[in-house]
Amino acid sequence: MPRTADDSWDIATSVGATAVMVALARAAETASADPLIRDQFAEPLVSTPELAGVREQVAAWWAEDDDPDSTVDSQQMIDYQAVRTHFFDEYFTDAVAGGIRQVVILAAGLDSRAYRLDWPAGTVVYEIDVPKVLEYKSRTLAGHGATPIAERRAVPVDLRHDWPLALRGVDFDTSRPTAWLAEGLLPFLPAAAQEALFASIDALSAAGSRAAVENFGVDQAKRQEAEKRWANLKAKREARGQDTSFNPFDLWFEDGDRPDCGDWFAGHGWTTRVISAREEAVRLGREPVSDERPFANTFVTATKA
Ligand SMILES: C[S@@+](CC[C@H](N)C(=O)[O-])C[C@H]1O[C@@H](n2cnc3c(N)ncnc32)[C@H](O)[C@@H]1O
Repeated sequence: MPRTADDSWDIATSVGATAVMVALARAAETASADPLIRDQFAEPLVSTPELAGVREQVAAWWAEDDDPDSTVDSQQMIDYQAVRTHFFDEYFTDAVAGGIRQVVILAAGLDSRAYRLDWPAGTVVYEIDVPKVLEYKSRTLAGHGATPIAERRAVPVDLRHDWPLALRGVDFDTSRPTAWLAEGLLPFLPAAAQEALFASIDALSAAGSRAAVENFGVDQAKRQEAEKRWANLKAKREARGQDTSFNPFDLWFEDGDRPDCGDWFAGHGWTTRVISAREEAVRLGREPVSDERPFANTFVTATKA
């Protein structure tokens, strides 16, 4: 089903399942011989019985040896997630080294940074996502015996609604500088909600605040190619009577022009840097082996004067 203005999901469906997909990549990277990042919570988060259907569908999509016409290069997907996680981990390390002790992770999904980064005492990490996704993560990690290193405050709210009100409701302090993160989020928001998101980040940010955003490159030809492969796989799976309920190509809002993130923050007085994901991958020794889509993305960081 394509998106609607008021749709909802849990961790195993629709946009929720994309959080599982990226956590599956972090789990694979963590288990690899020479991992770039270590997310020891990714594996337990994706291994529950309720996620069996999503795991099976992603595994079919990533099994490129099986059928290269219908699947993607799984190593490329894992490399991209490793590079992106590494980049934003470093962003937070720099932010706390610069004295920031208030963090907001927008669309946190199965992000386990509150549990795994070396946060200084007194750091508060606010995690925003829809209620069922945050509840799944809290429950699963508690069952695993994990406790957050930072003070974690869950903010269960839809980012298309009045999330600043919900954030203030759990004692977010607008007088303190904040490090914000929007990773794996923007295409899942309608254009108006993205604009409102940036405006709210700006309005809630004290001087010295920082923001980091994953900006999705729109290479339409590459996207269409990937979508064609997905449709191919879907048809084969349907013929075999297999589950095809998770369709990552149905989940983006393509509802008009969006401002470039870097330009938006620069235009609102923030000092901005735009880093090519491909160049970052090369810097980290993960040069993309093919021209697959995710490496067209950029990582934008911004600091408020
Ligand atoms: C691709 S996942 C990324 C999760 C996490 N940032 C990461 O990188 O592991 C997308 C996440 O965005 C969340 N999301 C998408 N639209 C949202 C909305 N309108 N309100 C709250 N969360 C949303 C989903 O629930 C999901 O957890």
